[in-house]
Amino acid sequence: MNDSALYAQALPPGPVDPDTPLQLLGGMTPAEFMRDIWHQKPLLIRQAIPGIVPPVTREALFELADRDEVESRLITYFRNRWKLEQGPFAPDNLPTRKTRQWTLLVQGVNLHNSAAAELMGQFRFVPDARLDDVMISYATDGGGVGPHFDSYDVFLLQVSGRRRWRISAQADLEILPNLPLKILADFKAEDEWVLEPGDMLYLPPQYAHDGVADGECMTCSIGFRAPAYRELAGHFLAWLSETVEDNEALSGRYADPGEPATARPAQLPAGMARAVSERLQALRWSNAMVSEFIGTHLSEPKPGVEFATPAEIPLRKYGSLARSLGIVLAPGSIALYDRTHFFINGEAYEPPPELARWLRRLADRRQLTAAEVGECADLPDMMETLHHWTLEGWLQLAPQSHCNNA
Ligand code: SIN
Ligand code: CO
Repeated sequence: MNDSALYAQALPPGPVDPDTPLQLLGGMTPAEFMRDIWHQKPLLIRQAIPGIVPPVTREALFELADRDEVESRLITYFRNRWKLEQGPFAPDNLPTRKTRQWTLLVQGVNLHNSAAAELMGQFRFVPDARLDDVMISYATDGGGVGPHFDSYDVFLLQVSGRRRWRISAQADLEILPNLPLKILADFKAEDEWVLEPGDMLYLPPQYAHDGVADGECMTCSIGFRAPAYRELAGHFLAWLSETVEDNEALSGRYADPGEPATARPAQLPAGMARAVSERLQALRWSNAMVSEFIGTHLSEPKPGVEFATPAEIPLRKYGSLARSLGIVLAPGSIALYDRTHFFINGEAYEPPPELARWLRRLADRRQLTAAEVGECADLPDMMETLHHWTLEGWLQLAPQSHCNNA
């Protein structure tokens, strides 16, 4: 049997031990990195991944950029003019490799390529709620996106060829007007390095930088998500009004017994704003409710993610396959949890404690081994839940090659 939606291509990346020194972090432990560097200062790590093999070839990257569901951008700097185009790009629509000063950026490569997913997994010492994606850029000589700053932390890993990075702690973040890209008006480099394959540069948010390809090169950006409070607030209020049914403050409708007859029909009734305001001011929420909202919201699949659903498979047959192979989260699945809830792809569940224990393990490791499925399979609802999520395309059976008798 070979159903590509039912079976995973590769085992997903598991968690990272916070206290083991990593070459990836220049010999620091993740705990030290988060304490001393994260959000505070840039860090250049020579040979973070020695002998690195690019997760994708240039051709495979171009193929991804040709797909509708993949977000890609082409940035050119021809004749001293910045230009930005959104993908998809048929390979014939890209400039030639001999043309200087262009860059192709492909977002979310981790969703389509297991080597990129594995790479992103090496950064899971940062919570999944903050990890965003792996973007891969390909550039010809002199190519780049110009001096700029990002609102998010980033690890810039050189995967092939060389790139010259110049960075600056400057406070002046003024942007040039009327350009398709955010280019700093007055970039004054303070440090400069040429990164070779395997070298990596960490930059905190708002840190000015400019990376220019020194010959043809590829760079992976491991990026983070930091939702804007304004955006969260909008989503939260919508969630609060829709989800919390027993919200006393929001029950019923506006009514106006005793409203006097009016000779100014266009004027808002005097008591209306007061009545609505009283209800809004009576809205209450707890940290637990906010946590439920955040988990639901942040586990929403990324734009463009569509889960391939396998052919219907009877529960019993599924159970025996899951027990012999183990299960993994599909690459596009986002699973998070808090003290009481388990969140997967925008849905919140409140599993009983024995189930929660296994679901948390599934979320942290992105897999349950065959032995683990065997251990939990008889818990009430366990197999039904896994079966249901598998039919949604959210879970897959572990790759067949990992089964001894495959
Ligand atoms: C790039 O890879 O060319 C751009 C990455 C960045 O500067 O954020
Ligand atoms: Co940047």
